Amino acid sequence: MFWIISVTIFFSVCGVTVNIPHRYHFVNENKTWSEAQTYCRGKYTDLATISNMDEMKKLNITLKKEPANLAWIGLKSESVGEWKWSQTFYKGGDTYRNWSSGEPNNAGGNDHCAVIAKNGFWYDYRCDLMLPFVCYDGKNSIYLFVQIKKRTWYEAQTFCRENYTDLVSVRNQAGNELIRNLTRNSVNNRSWIGLFNDSWKWSDQSKSSFRYWSSDKPRDDLKCAAVSGSEQHYWSDVSCTEQLPFICHEKFLILIKMNLSWWEALNYCRNHHHDLVSVRSEEMQLWVKDVAQKASTEHVWLGLRHDCVQRIWFWVYGSMICYQNWAPGYGTWNEDCSQEKRSGAVQAGGTQQWIDLPESYKLNFICSTYDD
Ligand SMILES: *[C@@H]1O[C@H](CO)[C@@H](O)[C@H](O)[C@H]1NC(C)=O
Ligand SMILES: *[C@@H]1O[C@H](CO)[C@@H](O)[C@H](O)[C@H]1NC(C)=O
Ligand SMILES: *[C@@H]1O[C@H](CO)[C@@H](O)[C@H](O)[C@H]1NC(C)=O
Ligand SMILES: *[C@@H]1O[C@H](CO)[C@@H](O)[C@H](O)[C@H]1NC(C)=O
Ligand SMILES: *[C@@H]1O[C@H](CO)[C@@H](O)[C@H](O)[C@H]1NC(C)=O
Ligand SMILES: *[C@@H]1O[C@H](CO)[C@@H](O)[C@H](O)[C@H]1NC(C)=O
Ligand SMILES: *[C@@H]1O[C@H](CO)[C@@H](O)[C@H](O)[C@H]1NC(C)=O
Ligand SMILES: *[C@@H]1O[C@H](CO)[C@@H](O)[C@H](O)[C@H]1NC(C)=O
Repeated sequence: MFWIISVTIFFSVCGVTVNIPHRYHFVNENKTWSEAQTYCRGKYTDLATISNMDEMKKLNITLKKEPANLAWIGLKSESVGEWKWSQTFYKGGDTYRNWSSGEPNNAGGNDHCAVIAKNGFWYDYRCDLMLPFVCYDGKNSIYLFVQIKKRTWYEAQTFCRENYTDLVSVRNQAGNELIRNLTRNSVNNRSWIGLFNDSWKWSDQSKSSFRYWSSDKPRDDLKCAAVSGSEQHYWSDVSCTEQLPFICHEKFLILIKMNLSWWEALNYCRNHHHDLVSVRSEEMQLWVKDVAQKASTEHVWLGLRHDCVQRIWFWVYGSMICYQNWAPGYGTWNEDCSQEKRSGAVQAGGTQQWIDLPESYKLNFICSTYDD
């Protein structure tokens, strides 16, 4: 076989958040939330999960062609709430808290949003109070204190998302001090941060804490979520037994249990699906782990390739490696290129990290099913 590799790829820039892309399908049949879930699980993967503004924009495009007033998505309220950050983190970043002692105590009975006070400690508060707030701007990695116009927590979230990235998440003590300093000279004692008590869970078990409620929602007594037909497509909570059209999403990854060389695997995915998978984020790695553990070979090919001329590893999707999960000692720039070229695979078991192997090894592999 004769192949020409072209490594003149348009490398994307590191630092951009990559999430699992979801392909959305609108189903124009009236069903209850549970019936819709069963339908989606049978025909696609599950009811739709929406993990960030980019996916919200994709959903917007899907819905542009559809007339429905409301359509189910895969979000349902459970009885127990948890404190979550407005912006989802998948990697150990969600454990820092600096509650004042005795907080959160839900003293008002409806205190589902968090503030930082001038003393640097956090308190739970009613989300509909008008307060200044701190946004995070991921592009420039800076915090911004907004106090000219006070807003409710949900309005503040919308403001931050549309103008910057999101309400601020406080990841550690240094961050907390920085934010405390920013708010120090405010006339208000308290400012919103991006922490909220939320009891909603995704049907597909996705951990995303992205929510896009209209500012008067959710009301807490209605337990299933639907996207509205308005221009903005904000989410509403609706009684789960109502009959509505719905949105499913499709599985992004497929394990192919054939034993093929890396090139054969690449070719197979490109002919039958979309591509050999490129694992560009922590969340994607979690999905890959899930899929890979069902493999019949010890390792599973990824779209990960070493280029002997430039001495770099890259994703066949066309990007450099930003997120990485190499097993210790693997993925170095100075691979042995004297024999056979090497490609990357994920361990089917154990810690499920990445290793490199000669390209002629015959392994199971994972295809992505569509472009993101
Ligand atoms: C679903 O129900 C709504 C309201 O009852 C109705 O207007 C619509 O035509 C129904 N759609 C379908 C596909 O049956
Ligand atoms: C959806 O599209 C409309 C225009 O058709 C736009 O006004 C709105 O901001 C969009 N919403 C999102 C979430 O992208
Ligand atoms: C979140 O809010 C619910 C409903 O008010 C409450 O029962 C629950 O204790 C809260 N959870 C936490 C962790 O504060
Ligand atoms: C919480 O905030 C206070 C005041 O800024 C600070 O003194 C304390 O060290 C913080 N605690 C933690 C665990 O970060
Ligand atoms: C974004 O900022 C502008 C200027 O500060 C403000 O007028 C606008 O309302 C903000 N966007 C949102 C959605 O709040
Ligand atoms: C906060 O402000 C104080 C006083 O201006 C300064 O000493 C300290 O370094 C600042 N801390 C941070 C984390 O910016
Ligand atoms: C600010 O809020 C905290 C927490 O509620 C409170 O302990 C403190 O006394 C308040 N300070 C002022 C100046 O209001
Ligand atoms: C692929 O290889 C594994 C391990 O050698 C073997 O157990 C499995 O049966 C093979 N699968 C096929 C389809 O040949």
